[in-house]
Amino acid sequence: MSNIHVINHPLVQHKLTLMRRKDASTNSFRRLLGELATLMAYEVTRDMPLSDVEIETPLETMTGKVIDGKKLVLVSILRAGNGFLDGMLNVVPVARVGHIGLYRDPESLQAVEYYFKMPSDMNERDVIVVDPMLATGNSASAALTRLKQTEPRSIKFVCLLAAPEGIAKLQQAHPDVPIYTAAIDRQLNSHGYILPGLGDAGDRIFGTK
Ligand code: URA
Repeated sequence: MSNIHVINHPLVQHKLTLMRRKDASTNSFRRLLGELATLMAYEVTRDMPLSDVEIETPLETMTGKVIDGKKLVLVSILRAGNGFLDGMLNVVPVARVGHIGLYRDPESLQAVEYYFKMPSDMNERDVIVVDPMLATGNSASAALTRLKQTEPRSIKFVCLLAAPEGIAKLQQAHPDVPIYTAAIDRQLNSHGYILPGLGDAGDRIFGTK
């Protein structure tokens, strides 16, 4: 489990509990997800490289440190990943954004791509893939396989909740991709929902149920 990072900051854990409650409104669920994404972004970007820059303060010249956020791409797995984006962009507002759309073929149960749009020059960029729920890991794994065809410099995967089954799947298929999550839940149910979980993240973000 060495490439799993559980972000157990008290603020993250507190907000996650509020989100899990079945009586949380669409409005508060969405707001809490945004706040959590901002908090998690601090942890996920902790090892971003810094470069020196010469600046002038009102008093003298100094060498400061800056990150090159333009090299960062946030990739949302549609549609629930979009609930994470704005909160992360609060921290790295100059990051580029890519989208991956996948659906599960009802017969083969395989992930089928219906949308894929990335910035150019992916081989010069570091990617953070976001999807609130790592459940079976099938769509996350397919998304990472597809993304690797663009040969980014690095990839991280960020979710809010992870099931042990999804972690195992991702670690087996993509052992090189670190996983960041706010919690590892108990198991999947027979419909592929995370237990105890928080329900259907997309429906709760967009109020579609
Ligand atoms: N996707 C969700 O939105 N919720 C789950 O519990 C599992 C997958």
